[in-house]
Amino acid sequence: MVLVCPSVLSADFTCLGEDCARVLNAGADMIHFDVMDGHFVDNLSFGLPVLETLHHALPQAVMDVHLMISHPLRFVHRFAAAGADYITVHVETTDNLSATLAAIHGCGCKRGMALNPDTPVEAVFPYLDQLELVLVMGVVPGHGGQPFDPRALDKLRALRAECARRGVSPILSVDGGVKPGTTAPQCTEAGATALVAGSAVFGAKDASAAVRQLKG
Ligand code: DX5
Ligand code: ZN
Repeated sequence: MVLVCPSVLSADFTCLGEDCARVLNAGADMIHFDVMDGHFVDNLSFGLPVLETLHHALPQAVMDVHLMISHPLRFVHRFAAAGADYITVHVETTDNLSATLAAIHGCGCKRGMALNPDTPVEAVFPYLDQLELVLVMGVVPGHGGQPFDPRALDKLRALRAECARRGVSPILSVDGGVKPGTTAPQCTEAGATALVAGSAVFGAKDASAAVRQLKG
């Protein structure tokens, strides 16, 4: 069954721990933690102290950290120490990607690689053997609540085929514009095994129903 990963960007920051506990109790599989630096993307979000606090409040929660930052290699160790389980970096960053993935692995975290809507899917192929997760962006990263770019579906299909060819099975996750009943089933049909959803879960009146619908 597909994993559901609510994005903290759409959480209630006045009671972040309780709001994350609420979506986990509603059946979510992990918390997606979107870090933005105002440079790699045109927005700022939150970082190390917030992750550390959340990890202390919810030590069992699996933290799926999405680094939308220009120099992820500089911060891998600190995000791992703050409680990250998965650390996802963008293929578009200028840091040495093999060294960055090795650093994530060396910290005992799972390695993820994200790709933006304009980036050809083949860009991540050379790294597939070193990844536990691939994150296909359904929106230009930086903001929640944007419409889904359907080019993500072709990328998911291509990734599913290439992973099968190589005999590897990273989580195929999709992030941005994922909604129950419309884009979510399209993504799972195309090969997604995890769905990141911010507004569709944190913003729903009934989080359990939203998670159930996303899981299909
Ligand atoms: C975009 C973030 C996403 C985003 C998803 O920069 O990486 O995780 O918050 O939000 P929704 O599900 O509202 O599109
Ligand atoms: Zn994200």
